[in-house]
Amino acid sequence: MNQLKKNAQAVLRGNWQNGFTIPCQGLYPFQWNWDSGFIALGWAHIDPEHAKQEIRSLLKGQWSNGFLPHIVFHNPSDSYYPGPEVHGAELSPYSPEIPTSGITQPPVLGFILEYIYMRLDTDPTFLDFVASVYDAVYANHEYFYTQRDPQQEGLVYICHNWEAGTDNTPVWDFIWDTFTVPQYDLPRKDTSLIDASHRPTNAEYCYYIHLIELFKTWNYEDARIAAESPFLVQDPLFNSMLIASNNSLIRLGKLLGRSAQVSQLQAWNTKAKQRFNEKLYDSELGGYVYYDLRGERKLSHLSSSSFTPLFAEIPSAAQAAAMIAHLDGGRFSGAQHERLLCASFDPTSSLFNSQKYWRGPIWINLNWLIYEGLLNYGAKDTAAQIRTDSIALIEKYGFYEYFECDRIKNETLDTGYGGNNFSWSAALILDLLKSQ
Ligand code: DGY
Repeated sequence: MNQLKKNAQAVLRGNWQNGFTIPCQGLYPFQWNWDSGFIALGWAHIDPEHAKQEIRSLLKGQWSNGFLPHIVFHNPSDSYYPGPEVHGAELSPYSPEIPTSGITQPPVLGFILEYIYMRLDTDPTFLDFVASVYDAVYANHEYFYTQRDPQQEGLVYICHNWEAGTDNTPVWDFIWDTFTVPQYDLPRKDTSLIDASHRPTNAEYCYYIHLIELFKTWNYEDARIAAESPFLVQDPLFNSMLIASNNSLIRLGKLLGRSAQVSQLQAWNTKAKQRFNEKLYDSELGGYVYYDLRGERKLSHLSSSSFTPLFAEIPSAAQAAAMIAHLDGGRFSGAQHERLLCASFDPTSSLFNSQKYWRGPIWINLNWLIYEGLLNYGAKDTAAQIRTDSIALIEKYGFYEYFECDRIKNETLDTGYGGNNFSWSAALILDLLKSQ
């Protein structure tokens, strides 16, 4: 275990860039929003000052309307497409001096601040740091509830698959089916850096780029996006992250005496949790699903995102039990536990692919969220299983981006999938090793 910890620390140190941490050399050479949150938690186990710097650096990319972009381009690099010139965020009157993207990612910062505070044994100097960034994180939540909830129902939308974090889940296939896009020239770099068969196709990338081109024609104006974007989805993972971050900002805000902000966060959360359960729970499937707000329909497929409401303490005990059953002898584990936890997409679906980016492989950040969520509901054995599986995969293969879930295939495999020396895999293993 000590060696594993040392190796994890070496990955984070190797990816540190003087103030922030890149997710992975070559493949992701800038600062990514939700990566940075998980990475900051990893840094808290090594050097809390780095954790603070990581968060400060991310916030340098915040827009004046509270929006927090998914990439902050602190540094030049030619190993990634699409770079700042494709995103064209400067078209928005709210964008900052520093180049950023114009789309966001799951809002993890609120709960990351609380986790770090807990992992540092409620260190008062870290609470001072929380006080210094609290308004910025709160402003990001305010942005979501005022700009991304057109029906004022407590659930916010995402307008791009990259905003989901689960970039290439098969669920998006149903959205791509609703519109056509031109063939773009795609000077992709990712497919020459790693096994191209593990990455999204060019046809899928044309959709990703097309959405950005549309947003640029609207100068990233939220009202235009809400009115016209063909991709407008209420995502269970994204909304769970926002609700969990609300929960944390409420508890931290009480410690900091922020009563007005705490009341507002409580009001957002009461409404959000109720609507989340009414709208996103699929009782036939026994889990939470995506809602296509443009097409006004549920997209009834289970994925690892379906279990993340456990992390935000949204499900009732009965709903939680239905979800735990999927992981414990059900379709995600297999009746004989022939699968490691937790596949990123329903392994019994015809759309499942155990090797392809978010279409089936195991991701350590989702495992961490589900592990913590299971503990919230007292499901200690299932939580222990997900922790054991995560550590075993990293011990066998190293700090890859994603992993095979099939036990038999793992017997003969000698590699993980995607990028190697991937920062959040290292950061969250440090956290899992700590929390027994
Ligand atoms: C990528 O390029 O695959 C990133 O995840 C998008 O942010």
